[in-house]
Amino acid sequence: MTLIIATRNQHKSEEIRQMLGDAFVVKDATDYPDWPEVAETGTTFLENATLKAEAISALVEGYVLSDDSGLEVDALHGAPGVWSSSYGGKEGDHPRNNARLLEEMKQVPEELRSARFVCTMVIAQGGKSLVHFVGRVEGKILNSASGAQGFGYDPLFAPFGYGKSFAELGSAIKNSLSHRGRALAQVVDWLQTP
Ligand code: IMP
Repeated sequence: MTLIIATRNQHKSEEIRQMLGDAFVVKDATDYPDWPEVAETGTTFLENATLKAEAISALVEGYVLSDDSGLEVDALHGAPGVWSSSYGGKEGDHPRNNARLLEEMKQVPEELRSARFVCTMVIAQGGKSLVHFVGRVEGKILNSASGAQGFGYDPLFAPFGYGKSFAELGSAIKNSLSHRGRALAQVVDWLQTP
């Protein structure tokens, strides 16, 4: 089965590709250079994921999957949330995003550093959303960046029970418990249910 991912974020499509394995051919914006930029004007993960999936599925045949995701930090009242990608001031600038998060969390004690990654995935076809799924992983924000794997906030986020950041744990462990992995498992169930 072919699954078209409505994203320009290569990190997301690479993780999805790794998790789906050989059962699916995964395509993304690199296979469709003419895709328009879809403005993420929503205020929730679901609104933004729906905007992306519906816009792109109106242009291609078959199922389109979108992923809108981010980090919710309790001590920051849920920020950066849907604005995770531009938290440092510039869209997709991960070092600046991480620097701002560390700065905002500077005075926050250990017991108040809880956070979660959230991923909402929407499947759409022919310009219409069909279904959506949400995955979450709970953890805490570290006091400094640790590890070199993954992307985004991975060096600052340690899932509960592991004592290491996603960037230290590596892709196999991250994918087995991540927000994206948990949302994608539900997507696969839905796609494979006759
Ligand atoms: P989106 O493209 O609007 O969904 O933005 C997602 C942003 O959330 C990314 O740019 C990262 O800052 C953050 N993010 C989402 N998923 C992850 C992850 O798995 N690891 C680290 N950061 C993530």
